Amino acid sequence: MKFKIPRGTQDILPETSALWRIVEAKAHDLCRRYNYKEIRTPMFEQTELFARGVGDTTDIVQKEMYTFEDRGGRSLTLRPEGTASVARSYAENKMHGWADQPVKLYYIGPMFRYERPQSGRMRQFVQFGVEAMGSDDPAIDAEVIALAMNFYQELGLKGLKLVINSLGDKDSRDAHRTALVNHFKPRITEFCTDCQQRLESNPLRILDCKKDRDHELMASAPSILDYLSEESAAYFSNVQQYLEAMKIPFTIDSGLVRGLDYYNSTAFEIMLEGEGFGAITTLMGGGRYNGLVEDLGGPETPGIGFALSLERLLMALETQGIALPVEESLDAYLITMGEVAKSHAPALLHRLRGEGITVDGDYMNKKMKAQFKAADRQNATFTLVLGDDELENGTVVLKNLETGGQENIPVEQAIEKLKAERGA
Ligand code: HAM
Repeated sequence: MKFKIPRGTQDILPETSALWRIVEAKAHDLCRRYNYKEIRTPMFEQTELFARGVGDTTDIVQKEMYTFEDRGGRSLTLRPEGTASVARSYAENKMHGWADQPVKLYYIGPMFRYERPQSGRMRQFVQFGVEAMGSDDPAIDAEVIALAMNFYQELGLKGLKLVINSLGDKDSRDAHRTALVNHFKPRITEFCTDCQQRLESNPLRILDCKKDRDHELMASAPSILDYLSEESAAYFSNVQQYLEAMKIPFTIDSGLVRGLDYYNSTAFEIMLEGEGFGAITTLMGGGRYNGLVEDLGGPETPGIGFALSLERLLMALETQGIALPVEESLDAYLITMGEVAKSHAPALLHRLRGEGITVDGDYMNKKMKAQFKAADRQNATFTLVLGDDELENGTVVLKNLETGGQENIPVEQAIEKLKAERGA
């Protein structure tokens, strides 16, 4: 029987995993600069956490979760996103009591959604996300957005488009909700069955419907921005001022509603302008979720964050022909001549590696010429050649593959040279 990888997942082979390490290193580095600390939460949680946190009426909860019962009869779900878990952890670990507020956290890890796979949409994908919890200062909104923009920019991505919106506070949303119901109700039968249900459960979700996207009532739907309370409007305007001061260009789109229920106030996405990849051009999404921690049993806590998938980032980099600096080379490759020398290879390799030298050797009984070829292919800077004579004298032939220069020297001396070369 032949096995196939599950639909919507991928193997990241060595050639590509080097790229992954570069973008992950960029995320870690940037978060250190912005003083966000890493959090690692489990890959599965109680199903109820997502039903409550992400929202019963969202596509994620209704259609996309990998839910299973464990042997103890508990309903568990592979996490479809990271925010609910971080909010759960914030409440559970009483982070509101920590001296430094807001608590600034980030994560990099796999998420799972049963979606229809297409370019840029996977069933398992890796999100890099940040969450700043405990502050309702519009300056932290601008910081979180700036971090996301910087991440892409420092990796060299061009044509980034930042779109922002405000979903308002509870009063704003209640007023908007009533307006939406009045707008759609008379002609709701022209919409899909999902939207007909959404009219009752969560009319905002209608604006997010992929099927009815082109219905004429969509474009004329009441804008949340016309229903913002005075406080929400002032907050949103502050966020914009901070972005302007940071010289981060943005556009406001009142149709940006986001697909998860915990959002309120600031919402944002970063898209790729011009030629994207397939139908998907959204690289990143985020927003405020004041009230989420409380909904999950914690104290009243404001929060804001974003998440982006590394898959979409890597696709965008590839589309734009941006090559990341992959450095995969060996300090040295050990070449043996004859059976006796070969039998000494494992101990010598072990010793070299113990000295911090990146080195490999032959395990395929290759002829000497083929061993030299392997050294070349693997980008070795030096070869170490070990034959009967060298064994007898306690030496090796150290050859610099770039210059062609070589010398027969004691093993200790070769080690020192390799180490010095490394440091150079
Ligand atoms: P989201 O908009 O559902 O938000 O996802 C955020 C990002 O995850 C997307 O912009 C995209 O880069 C990536 N993504 C989502 N689904 C897939 C998929 N099937 N395949 C590949 N990439 C995907 C959230 O998840 C929120 N937790 C973001 C957030 C954090 N809001 C506040 N804090």
